[in-house]
Amino acid sequence: MPLFDHQASLTAFANSHFKSEKDHDYHIKLKFEHSLRVCENAKAIVADEDITGHVASLATLAALFHDIGRFPQYTTYGTFKDAESINHGRLGVLTLRDQKLPHATSKKDLRLIRAAIGLHNVKAIRDTTPQPLATIANIVRDADKIDIFSVILDHLDPETESKPVVIHSLIQDQTKYSDEVYQTTLAGEIGDYSLLRYSNDFILLLIGWLFVLHYPTSVRLIAERGLIEQAFSILPKDDKIQTLNEKSHTFMRYKNTRTP
Ligand SMILES: [Fe+2]
Repeated sequence: MPLFDHQASLTAFANSHFKSEKDHDYHIKLKFEHSLRVCENAKAIVADEDITGHVASLATLAALFHDIGRFPQYTTYGTFKDAESINHGRLGVLTLRDQKLPHATSKKDLRLIRAAIGLHNVKAIRDTTPQPLATIANIVRDADKIDIFSVILDHLDPETESKPVVIHSLIQDQTKYSDEVYQTTLAGEIGDYSLLRYSNDFILLLIGWLFVLHYPTSVRLIAERGLIEQAFSILPKDDKIQTLNEKSHTFMRYKNTRTP
């Protein structure tokens, strides 16, 4: 099943959501391009983690289609906030069920891809998740986080004009962040979108993802792309943020020395 055919199928699906309205089309294009980059990230993870064969192909495909629910979500509700619309992972499962995928995708493979899509945006996946679903879902989840990291940081860069929908309409006050979100990140726990108030909280949530990425390759990709430096360059410069900065760099050094 050549990936190219699947990319053509996602392209056609995304194109069907354009309305020739500048703002609407911007958000559809953003998610389409995100999907392609998450697919590339998944390829980099499987290559570096020596994941091969059918599981590698399925993970790459699931990465490509992971956000297929975003297109109908935005078209219907005009938001990417699941709490104010619909769970886009679950919508993705239903959306893919109605899609005619290119030949040679077996029912069993489609079930695995759909299950991984349903798991891509849950807070954490259960330890009891069976293989190969756990591997496929972990690859998609890491690949997705790496790209969201850079998309959000680019939108929060003081030099650029950010789109409210992309940053979930958070308050943009460069001096403020919520202590609860900070403490969660510092503790290495997974943050919750519902707690975000300021745009800096989103950055803290992203930094928290660093500690929960499944694959060392994912940490390396974040480090190589300079995303941690970019994140801290936007946050206020106080002692608490400095403590988190040191913890993040210690963690990246530790992960990198453990990677052969
Ligand atoms: Fe998603």
